[in-house]
Amino acid sequence: MLITGASRGLGWELARHYAGAGWRVIACARAAPLPPDGDGLEWHRLDVANPASIAELAAGLAGRALDVVINNAAIRGDIGGLATLDADDFMAVMRVNALAPLLLARALLPNLMAGRAGIIANISSRAGSIAEGMIDDEDGDYAYRCSKAALNMATAKLALDLKPAGITVLALHPGWVQTDMGGVAAEVPAQQSAAALAGLIGQAGIAESGSFRAFDGQPIAW
Ligand SMILES: NC(=O)c1ccc[n+]([C@@H]2O[C@H](COP(=O)([O-])OP(=O)(O)OC[C@H]3O[C@@H](n4cnc5c(N)ncnc54)[C@H](OP(=O)(O)O)[C@@H]3O)[C@@H](O)[C@H]2O)c1
Repeated sequence: MLITGASRGLGWELARHYAGAGWRVIACARAAPLPPDGDGLEWHRLDVANPASIAELAAGLAGRALDVVINNAAIRGDIGGLATLDADDFMAVMRVNALAPLLLARALLPNLMAGRAGIIANISSRAGSIAEGMIDDEDGDYAYRCSKAALNMATAKLALDLKPAGITVLALHPGWVQTDMGGVAAEVPAQQSAAALAGLIGQAGIAESGSFRAFDGQPIAW
């Protein structure tokens, strides 16, 4: 299995969880130096904002089967609402959170086709749900919300397009997680979220493809 943004936070906990469960984990991180390989983790350099980096990763993995790809890397961007909305910041967030998962899905499709399970799990956010994202959340994170709404559409469209190939595509909300992004007040320990997400991914089949669920299994309205 492969995970992006494995250097810290939820990505690191997901990588550790899968490795601990006996999976061979291709852990991707953008910053040098990469940690040494070991304990089931094989580290690869990947800056998801850079299409050349995605192409380089895919070339390095040519011929290797992948069962699961988790698009986890993300950035929050500006959170100051309309007043501080910035064009470059907005586009940078869209590039990492919405475009990169699509480019990675395309680049790694041959690897997924060669695997057994064939699952793409996009770590989305309830903040990107038009129906539920603003119920108890007034943050002014326009770029982040728009990027996750775009990722949700990418998930639905990919699910449709890849169904004939037997590839399952999921959008998953990890909860409000105790990471740098989630902050100190967050509710869910990253380890708990990672274990729950891995459980959902492990149970998912083509019947669940195109769904949006929280880490506790509850469906989220788009
Ligand atoms: N925490 C929450 O409460 C929460 C809630 C809803 C959804 N989520 C989602 O859960 C996922 C994980 O979030 P988190 O809380 O673990 O965030 P985090 O603590 O901020 O970690 C983000 C990770 O993404 C990586 N990353 C950022 N830009 C990258 C790039 N261009 N290329 C490669 N890696 C990049 C970071 O790498 P560096 O170390 O190099 O910066 C880091 O490993 C994200 O998709 C996030 O949107 C989180």
